[in-house]
Amino acid sequence: MKRIAVLTSGGDSSGMNAAVRAVVRSALSSGLEVVGINKGYKGLIDRNYGMMSTRSVSNILQRGGTFLQSARCKEMMEEAGQNLAAENLKGMGVEGLVVIGGDGSLRGALSLHRRGIKTIGIPASIDNDIPYTSMSLGVDTALNNIVYAIDCLKDTASSHDRAFIVEIMGRNCGYLTLVAAIACGAEHALIPETPFDIGRICENLRKRYREGRDNSIILVAEGVATAQEISNQIKDCIGFESRIMVLGHYQRGGSPSSFDRLLGSRFGQGAVQALMEGESGKMIGLSASKMKLTDLEKVLTGKIRPIDKSMVQLSKSLDY
Ligand code: F6P
Repeated sequence: MKRIAVLTSGGDSSGMNAAVRAVVRSALSSGLEVVGINKGYKGLIDRNYGMMSTRSVSNILQRGGTFLQSARCKEMMEEAGQNLAAENLKGMGVEGLVVIGGDGSLRGALSLHRRGIKTIGIPASIDNDIPYTSMSLGVDTALNNIVYAIDCLKDTASSHDRAFIVEIMGRNCGYLTLVAAIACGAEHALIPETPFDIGRICENLRKRYREGRDNSIILVAEGVATAQEISNQIKDCIGFESRIMVLGHYQRGGSPSSFDRLLGSRFGQGAVQALMEGESGKMIGLSASKMKLTDLEKVLTGKIRPIDKSMVQLSKSLDY
C-alpha cells in the first residue's frame, strides 16, 4: 500500500481533527502518502481533495469541528454515487481509506469496501449510538458542553424558583441525555429507551416545590419530544414557573476534551495500522480501554448501541 485517503463525514464532532492528524502523521511516518478529501463523500464525488503533509495538520488538535469539513451526501446513499466515489479513489491511486463519521458515514465506508477499496471506519458522533464501541468520538466534549450549560442554567433557575426543560441532541438515542442528567444532578431524564410517566414527574416536581427546593431541571432527548412539547404538558401542574432551553448545535462544537483528543489520536493511528495489516471493511472501536476492530457488517445491523441499564438505574436512584 502506497497511498491512503482520509475524510470526515456526516455531523461533525469534536476530536475529528485529532483523528485526521493521527491518520496523516502515522501514515506519513510509515512511508505512506495521504490524500485529504474535503467535505466528506461530497468531496470524494466532486474530486475535491489535496495531498497532506505533516504541516497540513499542525495546530488543529485543539480545534472543534473538522478542518477537512463535512457534508451529508445523498448521492453516496445510491449505487451510482458509490460507484463514482470508488472510481475516483482508484483514479487518485488510493488503495486505503479512513472514514471518520457516524452510522451513515460507516455505511458509505462499507459500500466502498465492497467495491474493492480497503476501508476502515472511525466512529465519530455525539449521539453515541454506534454499537461495538463504548464511546464514539465527540461524545465526551458534547457532554462537557451540556454540563457547562446546565450548571449556568441552575444558577439562574434557582434565583427565580424556576423549572427548566432542556432539549438534548442524540437523534434516536438517549445516551447523552441520560449521562448528562447524572453529571448535572437533573431531576428527570426523558429518553427514548425507557418509558416515563408525565404524571409522576409532575407529582415529584410539586413535592420539590413544597419542600422549598428552588429549581428543577428536566432533560428531554430530541428522540422523545421537543422541550416545548414537554413544557406544554407540565407547565400548569408543577408549581414552578418554567422555561425551556434547546441546546442544539452548540453541543457539537468547542475545543475537544482531553479524552476526545486521546481517543481521536488512538483511533487515527489504529485505523492506519489496520490498513497496513491488510484489514478492510472494519470499524475501530474502544472496548475495555483497548482498540478493537469489528466488521462493519456487524456494526451496521440497524440496531443502535443499547442503553446501559445500570446508568438508567443510577439516574433513577439519584432522582430522590
Ligand atoms: O448525529 C449528530 C446530530 O447532531 C444529531 O444529534 C442531530 O439529530 C443531528 O445530528 C442534527 O443534524 P444536522 O447537523 O444535519 O442538523
